[in-house]
Amino acid sequence: MNIPQHVSIIMDGNGRWAKERGKDRIYGHFEGVESVRSVLECSVKWGIRYVSLYAFSEENWGRPEAEVSGLMELMAKSMVKELSTFLDNGVRFVVLGNRARLSDSLNALIDDIMARTAGGDKLTMIVFMSYSGKWDILQAARKMAHDLIENPGKEIGIDDFSHYLVTDGIPDPELLIRTSGEERLSNYLLWQCAYTEFVFSDVLWPDFREEAFRAALEEYSKRDRRFGKVK
Ligand code: IPE
Ligand code: IPE
Ligand code: MG
Repeated sequence: MNIPQHVSIIMDGNGRWAKERGKDRIYGHFEGVESVRSVLECSVKWGIRYVSLYAFSEENWGRPEAEVSGLMELMAKSMVKELSTFLDNGVRFVVLGNRARLSDSLNALIDDIMARTAGGDKLTMIVFMSYSGKWDILQAARKMAHDLIENPGKEIGIDDFSHYLVTDGIPDPELLIRTSGEERLSNYLLWQCAYTEFVFSDVLWPDFREEAFRAALEEYSKRDRRFGKVK
């Protein structure tokens, strides 16, 4: 199997998974955390260096208040619960997104877990919270504008612009997986996915475990990446 350096996942289908069982949507989010653990374990085992997960989009703030607060609570609890897993497996934990919209207590917790796992050198796990691709490009453009005021005439090429994005220092994903049968980007990594391979899985996120993950990687292995050139 051809193992990518960076696999990104749009974890979708928690609500439908719960609905199929006659349960509340939040139940699907709870079960989804187990899939995150499974993906993390497989990634460490298979030697993937970066795993990024779309956990909460800027648009998701528009969901009912109870679901939003349930998700925030789940995020906080899961981070604390998994801290020992991160430390035992050399995982560096990173949260990226519009953190100004998260509560002070959640931000403090995120800072703490990020600092404690900063030395993790096996795998970097990135959780995108309150993230949107358009927001990322806009905040990058703002940083660039400030930089140009301080350094008039500075040349900024494509690679230079990438440094203003919140993903600075993280390689672009070679593979993006979206679960639950939806085939869209939903305002995720717009700039960073310029040459990413997309694999769409019909499996709902709470059921996405080793077998489904392996199948996605096998599909990726068969792809012929040409980057616009002739082979
Ligand atoms: C993905 O599952 C999790 C988040 C977006 C937070 P959904 O909650 O979108 O589940 P569906 O798409 O309604 O089934
Ligand atoms: C995308 O899923 C966001 C996350 C998985 C965090 P959504 O379920 O919110 O996206 P749409 O509404 O189907 O585009
Ligand atoms: Mg969804």
